[in-house]
Amino acid sequence: MCAKQVTKKTARQVETTGHSWDGIEELNNPLPRWWVWVFYATIVWAIGYAVAYPAWPLIHGATPGLLHASTRADVQAEIDRFDAANADIKAKLVAADLQSLPANKELMAYAEPAGASVFRNNCAQCHGSGAAGVQGKGYPNLLDNDWLWGGDMEAIHTTITHGIRNTTDPDARYSEMPKFGVDGLLEPAQIDALVEHVLAISGQEHDATLAAEGATLFADNCAACHGEQGKGDRAQGAPNLTDAIWLYGGDRDTIKHTVTYARFGVMPSWTGRLSEDEIRAVAAYVHSRGGGE
Ligand code: HEC
Ligand code: HEC
Repeated sequence: MCAKQVTKKTARQVETTGHSWDGIEELNNPLPRWWVWVFYATIVWAIGYAVAYPAWPLIHGATPGLLHASTRADVQAEIDRFDAANADIKAKLVAADLQSLPANKELMAYAEPAGASVFRNNCAQCHGSGAAGVQGKGYPNLLDNDWLWGGDMEAIHTTITHGIRNTTDPDARYSEMPKFGVDGLLEPAQIDALVEHVLAISGQEHDATLAAEGATLFADNCAACHGEQGKGDRAQGAPNLTDAIWLYGGDRDTIKHTVTYARFGVMPSWTGRLSEDEIRAVAAYVHSRGGGE
């Protein structure tokens, strides 16, 4: 009996491909059998996949596949299902009386979270996300209880619907503070006196003599909008100058800049960009957070 011997084939026993370079020949060893079968299996899988699922790109879209699978359609179906589930409450929200909305627990349970998401997507980039209070100069923090144009539901709703000083909505809120310095309405020395007066009424360190002079100038030039006491006028969006909340800044240099060049804060109109139920939801959200009136 002779034991089975395993011998390695020498190079000579394997066919060559005929390629040879510098005396080195390329042998034509067969691929491992398992590898070949896996390779055929992937081809079969690919053909099956291409028939069943969207696979071949066409100019518009792709071949739909026998299963008509579409993740986009799945998402749309989810959105439709969600909209249908909320259709009733949205209709109620649109029909509700604005002023009494904050007292309506059922509607507020929907409006507040819905409004919060509208706010995050459309308003936070200008108005800041609230709690941290980071928002740009000239963009009021809506989550405090200081209002330029009014803080009841009707007022907030109007502001959002039409915006402020934009050129796209004929019903936008509008007012314009004169450029006292640039247009030569006041002398630089008069502006300096006015600035001291504004510092005085806002409880800041100031020059008393100049401030007294500024008080007369204020009554003549500023009181029509900011009020005799400087407490502001919501009909004109004129800020209260006596509180510690500043839209542009309450230090000497900034006030001087405001009075010299004036400001012109613009807020877009949301008609057409948000639906009525979204405008109402975000108004309710702002009202509930911002010390609504
Ligand atoms: C492009 C920036 C911008 C965006 C976006 C924006 N706003 Fe405004 N908003 C402003 C500016 C600027 C003012 C202040 C205008 C002024 O000086 O009177 C303002 C003022 C307001 C006021 C008045 C505040 C008051 O004290 O009376 C409300 C309410 C308001 N915005 C709500 C919203 C809501 C809700 C959204 C999102 C749907 C939004 N804003 C999106 C710029 C913006
Ligand atoms: C025609 C109305 C009008 C008159 C007159 C007017 N203002 Fe104003 N003022 C406004 C409005 C509106 C704003 C807000 C501007 C904005 O947001 O673009 C404002 C803003 C200001 C601010 C910025 C407040 C802040 O919170 O940063 C100061 C300061 C100010 N006015 C001072 C004065 C002084 C001083 C005078 C008189 C010399 C004056 N204003 C006259 C309408 C007026």
